Amino acid sequence: MERKFTLPFLIHMMVHTTMGKHSNDQVVKVEKLLHSKQPCLGICAGKHCAKSGAKHVIRAVQAALAEAGLMGSITYKLTKCQDYCDDGPAMTVIPGAYPYVALCPDSARQVVFDHVRDGRPVHRRLHKRFRRKLERRLA
Ligand code: FES
Repeated sequence: MERKFTLPFLIHMMVHTTMGKHSNDQVVKVEKLLHSKQPCLGICAGKHCAKSGAKHVIRAVQAALAEAGLMGSITYKLTKCQDYCDDGPAMTVIPGAYPYVALCPDSARQVVFDHVRDGRPVHRRLHKRFRRKLERRLA
């Protein structure tokens, strides 16, 4: 008998088999994503972000990408630590390397809709150093 897995089950398995494990092949360094030309969301799966609730952020991003109709045009990858451990969960939007920190499911959803879909970065969720740099550039 052929066994069929539902999308939510596969997502659940992916999240639970990769969170906090840095040796897994599915978890890449964010720098590797920056070198690729593909639009991508790099969601930190490091142990500090995992403890801060990254799995909820991942689920929210997956749902928001599907809801926004972006599943085919942008991918997301789980990454190793992005060096924002005190401000996790962290997610970097590529291109541009926009580092979002202290995400919750609602703010992750907002990043997908406002930044990824509409091209308007969510300033208040960016890491403070990057936010100041961006604001100086826009001034
Ligand atoms: S564990 Fe996520 S930024 Fe360090």
